[in-house]
Amino acid sequence: MYKLKKSALPLYIQLYTQIKEDIINNILKANTKLPSIRKMSSDYKISKTTVESAYSQLYAEGYIESHPQSGYYVSKDVIQNFTTFPIKNSNQQIEKMYKYDFYQAKHSEDVFPKKLWSKLHSKAISSINFGSYPNKQGDLSLRKELSSYLSKSRAVICDEEQIVICSGFSDSMFIISNILKEFCSSIAIEYPGYKVVQEVFSLQNYKITNIPILRNGIDLKALKQTKSKLIYVTPSHQYPTGKTIPISKRIDLINWACDNDAYIIEDDYDSELSYNNRPIPSLQGINDNQRVIYSGTFSKALSPAIRVSYIVLPKKLISMYKKIFYFSFSGVPIDIQKSLELFIKEGYWDKHIRKMRTLNKKKHDLMKKAIKEYLEDSVEIIREGSGLTILIKSKININWEKLHLLLEEKSIKVYSTTYDSNLNDNTIYLGFGGFKEDEISIAVKSFATVWFQSIKNTN
Ligand SMILES: Cc1ncc(COP(=O)(O)O)c(C=O)c1O
Repeated sequence: MYKLKKSALPLYIQLYTQIKEDIINNILKANTKLPSIRKMSSDYKISKTTVESAYSQLYAEGYIESHPQSGYYVSKDVIQNFTTFPIKNSNQQIEKMYKYDFYQAKHSEDVFPKKLWSKLHSKAISSINFGSYPNKQGDLSLRKELSSYLSKSRAVICDEEQIVICSGFSDSMFIISNILKEFCSSIAIEYPGYKVVQEVFSLQNYKITNIPILRNGIDLKALKQTKSKLIYVTPSHQYPTGKTIPISKRIDLINWACDNDAYIIEDDYDSELSYNNRPIPSLQGINDNQRVIYSGTFSKALSPAIRVSYIVLPKKLISMYKKIFYFSFSGVPIDIQKSLELFIKEGYWDKHIRKMRTLNKKKHDLMKKAIKEYLEDSVEIIREGSGLTILIKSKININWEKLHLLLEEKSIKVYSTTYDSNLNDNTIYLGFGGFKEDEISIAVKSFATVWFQSIKNTN
């Protein structure tokens, strides 16, 4: 039975959609004869034209076929094609919305300056020449703004010619992995570290070597033993441990790269958000050795939704980029690039960062207080004081499976440092960015209730 309602959608679209769904879901099987147009029209009290239009759309898209003098039948081919698609699981693919989501790279809705952005966006629109292609590497004026911001705030040594605007970190890594393919076939990465790097470089057939993190960052001895010519690091704020590579080790790392004709990928993903100390200057800016590929993002301080990241390439690599990617345009839409350019140029970016530092410090302190109050001595805080998250380690015996089930039941989502959220490594991220200030305490309290219900029964 089809449900046809008086709604904004024309009746023939409603009928077409419902029949189509029945076909896709195998309720209407291959070769099934559809009711005649006359019968449909009298059963549902709709005009013959409505039924005709619905059938004709289904026919045009190949869901049904017409058998002369007999009528319409469900097409055999379409069923066979569709059963290979994960239609039945399509609900599982929709991201679940959690009541309390402790994701470490999220902002609450109120943080993004929507009104200002839409004002800048309309100004940006009027400045865009929609009749021509944009700059492949990313809008030149945006790159100029970015290069002066990076040199002022992160001590990065670069000019706009070295910057490529990318659509998120994985895109940045995709470009780098392609440029360096001819130069090396393996990459050393921090362990534990940000899994996306491993995923992208594995896809490009790089051999991955994990380098342990010591008290003061990456284990250089282990790196030297690998003979690798490429290393990925998060020197200012190691992900996920939060450790900082001290200056002496930074210089050792650069010397290693110079001596071995190697490259360092510096992921400076959240340094501008430091609130307990001034941001540590970038590794790239220590000297102009042309050995460091600098990677940054607007996700942490502005918005993860706009998908803007960037890379600063050594001069030699920028000419390789131009050769390899001569056919490719930055994936960031020009209106977003232009709005961002105005946001930086007109001084809003600097103000926004200052606002974010104050707000994040407040949220961080509220989260820390709530952890102490509700989780008491059952956890140890192993990373705090910057970014959008506090990392905790369990000091009690937790039944992780039970915890996972109970959290799902209560619609609470926390994340492990293994990134894929199997809660089995004893450490958990409690991200605070996604909550408003007054939600933090209640979110931690709800988590703590489930936490204590999940203590392992040792009897
Ligand atoms: C270590 C690390 N690098 C980079 C990023 C930035 O990712 P994107 O620019 O794709 O939002 C993140 C975001 O969470 C991160 O944790």
